[in-house]
Amino acid sequence: MDNNLKTYKIITFGCQMNANDSEKLAGVLEGKGCVEGLSEETSDIVIFNTCTVRENANKRLYGRVGHLKKSCIENKKKIVGICGCMMQEKDEVEAIKNKYPYVKLIFGTHNIDEFSNLIDEVIENQNKVVKVYDEFDETKKEDSILPSKRVYSFKCGINIMYGCNNFCTYCIVPYVRGRERSRDVENIISEIENAVKDGVVEVMLLGQNVNSYRGIKRKLNKEWTFPKLLQDVADIEGLKRIRFMTSHPKDLSDELIEVIKNNEKCCKHIHLPLQSGSNKILKLMNRRYDREKYLEIIDKIRNNITDVAITTDVIVGFPGEEEEDFNDTIDLIKKVNFDSVFTFEYSKRNGTKAAEMINQVNEETVKRRFNELLKVVEDCAGSNTDKYVGRVMEVLVESVDREVNKLTGRLSNNYLVHFEGEDLLIGKIVKVKLIKSHGFYFEGEICR
Ligand code: SAH
Ligand code: SF4
Ligand code: F3S
Repeated sequence: MDNNLKTYKIITFGCQMNANDSEKLAGVLEGKGCVEGLSEETSDIVIFNTCTVRENANKRLYGRVGHLKKSCIENKKKIVGICGCMMQEKDEVEAIKNKYPYVKLIFGTHNIDEFSNLIDEVIENQNKVVKVYDEFDETKKEDSILPSKRVYSFKCGINIMYGCNNFCTYCIVPYVRGRERSRDVENIISEIENAVKDGVVEVMLLGQNVNSYRGIKRKLNKEWTFPKLLQDVADIEGLKRIRFMTSHPKDLSDELIEVIKNNEKCCKHIHLPLQSGSNKILKLMNRRYDREKYLEIIDKIRNNITDVAITTDVIVGFPGEEEEDFNDTIDLIKKVNFDSVFTFEYSKRNGTKAAEMINQVNEETVKRRFNELLKVVEDCAGSNTDKYVGRVMEVLVESVDREVNKLTGRLSNNYLVHFEGEDLLIGKIVKVKLIKSHGFYFEGEICR
């Protein structure tokens, strides 16, 4: 490795998948002797790991890359690279090439295993830009075993599958992440066992739709489902908590609910994206469930799993959404009374079916509905939390909140808790009495 390249900075946009990939990129760079730098301006290697799920994510990237021009002129050896989902889009790759000639490395989501070689190639060819744009190779079995530099020493994400087959009509993910590929059970288990040896106590199993996981259990030469995998992961000694993301409502099974219910290690939190409360819109979105089915699942979850928190994603302004459809969404949100709702304005993504639909909703209406929705969500927030006040619950301590100078951690159901305590408790699970609810977080007192 070039001695002039000592520091790196990785800037991550998007979801947990990207966050997980970034830990691998950092692991590769640390393996080459680099250390994390202070800022993107001063670091020798800067990698942007991009997201393209909504348009504003793309805009934010352009701004950040633009800012680095000056530092690239000052430090000729500096390497600016861009990877991630946006770099699976041909047009975006072209735009980056034209606008930012000082970007020396471009690669997509499924070239991540080649990152180490790609960096070496850039160093060898200082004046040549290394660019990789690959269509998906469905025959290539990607199962990266790259080292990770974890952001938290005690928790990490674990990919159980890549890609998505669902083609929700608004969504670009299937185009940039390719078709579903499930990893073999043994590979997942051994990755988690190794993480546990390193001190990890909580894992988040990652996939765009974990419920459609169909990996092979080589030992039995059998196809394995997600609930079965979850059970196997729960059997790993030393592992304390398991989360997963994301569950598609269309195939959330009774078996999954059973496994969560019967396993202390499975966190009592389910993120179940609703997207819309209107049956007409759900159909246009190709979500393959209706509001009745969704409500049925919610009932089943709540009737079986004590203290469970349910969170969701909602899109407003999907093409063809009329006032009536929007009201159905509001109505369903009130009925379910979610623990938290992530709200999005519909964003038109080139290449998706919804982008071709003729009845796009005008911007003003989208904004108005979005604000109305936000108000409903804010009004609901915290209405589920009173029942926890006064109880003693387990918290995994994550960090010190400098603003309030208190420890902060999470309950099994993902609610945040602030309480006083020593820094050395970070990474440990402690018992905390919940004193007061502030809606999305609690104030607590540690039990000694
Ligand atoms: N695989 C996950 C979602 C991944 S994308 C699932 O199906 O649940 C995360 C969220 O981004 C989605 O749930 C959706 O609410 C939102 N999203 C995706 N595409 C969008 C678009 N074109 N416009 C607005 N929001 C979008
Ligand atoms: Fe996108 Fe739908 Fe796949 Fe989620 S399930 S990634 S929303 S296509
Ligand atoms: Fe974004 Fe890619 Fe995730 S588009 S939401 S980073 S899979």
